[in-house]
Amino acid sequence: MTTTSDTYTIAVLGAGGKMGMRVSNNLARTDHSVFYVENSPAGQQRTTDAGRSLTDAATAVADADIVVFAVPDLALSPVTAEIVPLMKHGAIVLTLDPAAAYAGLLTTRDGIIQAVAHPCHPSIFLQRQTPEEWADTFGGIAAPQDAIAAIESDDAAKQAIVEATVRAIYAPIIDVHWVTIKQLAQLEPTLVETVACMIGSLLNEALDEAINTMGVPEAAARSILYGHTQVALANGLRGDNPFSDACLIAMDYGRESIIKDDWKKIFRDDELDKNLARMLHLDTIER
Ligand SMILES: NC(=O)c1ccc[n+]([C@@H]2O[C@H](COP(=O)([O-])OP(=O)(O)OC[C@H]3O[C@@H](n4cnc5c(N)ncnc54)[C@H](O)[C@@H]3O)[C@@H](O)[C@H]2O)c1
Repeated sequence: MTTTSDTYTIAVLGAGGKMGMRVSNNLARTDHSVFYVENSPAGQQRTTDAGRSLTDAATAVADADIVVFAVPDLALSPVTAEIVPLMKHGAIVLTLDPAAAYAGLLTTRDGIIQAVAHPCHPSIFLQRQTPEEWADTFGGIAAPQDAIAAIESDDAAKQAIVEATVRAIYAPIIDVHWVTIKQLAQLEPTLVETVACMIGSLLNEALDEAINTMGVPEAAARSILYGHTQVALANGLRGDNPFSDACLIAMDYGRESIIKDDWKKIFRDDELDKNLARMLHLDTIER
């Protein structure tokens, strides 16, 4: 783990949105010089209700070492087209999701550095110590988490600005893992949204089936599913214990009934492009 005591000038665009509020709450506790920008009345109200004052975009980004684009992915193309020309030479564009950056939708400029950082969220295997850590499933409040970052520059000073910002906005942070923007897109959405979040939602659908179609008492169904989900993840991801012989047979039946043989195609480049195009409401991704 690295730490830095350097302070920077940071602008947050979309400061009143879901991520904007989270990152702003954390930045407000740091010594960085922070400007908050928000264009919707509701977001402006949330920002001022939190005790933060608003700055117009042009003023906020003029001196910023790094601009955090906490705006919707679908707005990143027009918003970077408007904001990037206003940024100072050497400043960093930080987006919070790789989709638009990997799809080539962001306005770029010579001397402006592109970076992306996504929170890992606290691990299911984290040794939580306090009720606040247990309650913080998203991260950024009390439970320590890692973050993944990508930067299109070899400049160590720029990397340090991104790392300091990432450690501040997603605090408390354990490690920042550096990958390429493409690798970040292979992690998120493919690994964690297309697979992990889909399975989380499938578990809920299966629970609903057991309760509402099969008529199993809800408390019994929830209890056995929650416990077995922990066992499934601890055995499946960490090998804590072997699955029983009978369980392995039931798992095979599940795989044959539920999973398509060619499911690993989701990791291919052309499938990643299809996934991102759907997310970004585009017909195709063109590079
Ligand atoms: N929501 C999550 O759980 C989550 C997690 C990780 C990363 N992200 C990423 O964070 C980014 C923001 O997502 P979100 O869910 O917080 O969106 P959101 O819709 O909750 O908030 C976006 C905010 O940006 C504001 N905005 C839009 N255009 C603006 C402009 N030109 N100037 C100033 N403000 C503007 C909107 O008014 C809104 O308040 C996205 O890239 C998303 O992929 C979101």
